[in-house]
Amino acid sequence: MPSKAPAIHDPAHWDSVSTNYAAEADRMTGRYAQAAWELAALPPGARVLDVATGAGALLVSALRDGADAVGIDFSPGMVEIAQARAAEISPGRRALVMDGQQLDFPAESFDAAFSIFGVFMFPDAAAGFAEMARVLRSDGLAVVAVWENAGGAGPAQLFAQAAQRLFPDQPVPLPMARLFNSPELLDAAFVEACLRPEAVHRVTYTWPAPPADWFREHAKLAYGWSPVWKMLDDAQRTAFAEEAAALAADLPPEGISSTALVGIARKAGID
Ligand SMILES: C[S@@+](CC[C@H](N)C(=O)[O-])C[C@H]1O[C@@H](n2cnc3c(N)ncnc32)[C@H](O)[C@@H]1O
Repeated sequence: MPSKAPAIHDPAHWDSVSTNYAAEADRMTGRYAQAAWELAALPPGARVLDVATGAGALLVSALRDGADAVGIDFSPGMVEIAQARAAEISPGRRALVMDGQQLDFPAESFDAAFSIFGVFMFPDAAAGFAEMARVLRSDGLAVVAVWENAGGAGPAQLFAQAAQRLFPDQPVPLPMARLFNSPELLDAAFVEACLRPEAVHRVTYTWPAPPADWFREHAKLAYGWSPVWKMLDDAQRTAFAEEAAALAADLPPEGISSTALVGIARKAGID
């Protein structure tokens, strides 16, 4: 992995945040994963792949419903957590360390392949989509969730807004997020992978808003993955955390509303 790669492309970064991710972010991403799982409406016992499973949000939904599911992630720390959660539901190896751009599965091994807030952030997202398509059986379903706001969701949205205000010339926050964050863009990514788009659903939940101090104390944890973070010196990082805290002070009591786009596409059947 070249040293210039942003943290988000480095499994060691995800290892370092895995415990926190499982305790905090996954509580919310799990709700979107559950929504995506229900939208797919798969038959019982379906063979399911969860690409970039993280702490196993989608994997857990699938296993609970009796699917024959496996999740992959390039972060061993995330895989360990996902496997431990899966083991409470179903026996066997359910989470594996693997790069989503180069899946170690034969073609046509799954009835459905999901990627919840995963594939869109790969350095080569097109390879991620193509790999999902390759491992699907004909007529199999691909389900991809992305954030509608390129700044992400929940507290990340505020950090992105703070960065935009203070450092307008920096890429905010993750250039590739803008490549997929509309129904048209998501459909185009499916088509490029030879998948037939069926629907894009908007799924919105409100994230609890942490107090303003949380933004002062957790800027690195919440935003350290961003290419922008690497470019800031200590004084800029402090100013950035203060800006996010100021934005948090203006949040409505109900929290931070965040919308995911859940795209569904099908692999063409054999005529
Ligand atoms: C935002 S998290 C989403 C995790 C989970 N799907 C969820 O909804 O909570 C992104 C995940 O993508 C994984 N990831 C990033 N690049 C990857 C790659 N090239 N191959 C496999 N996993 C990758 C990270 O390790 C991380 O667990």
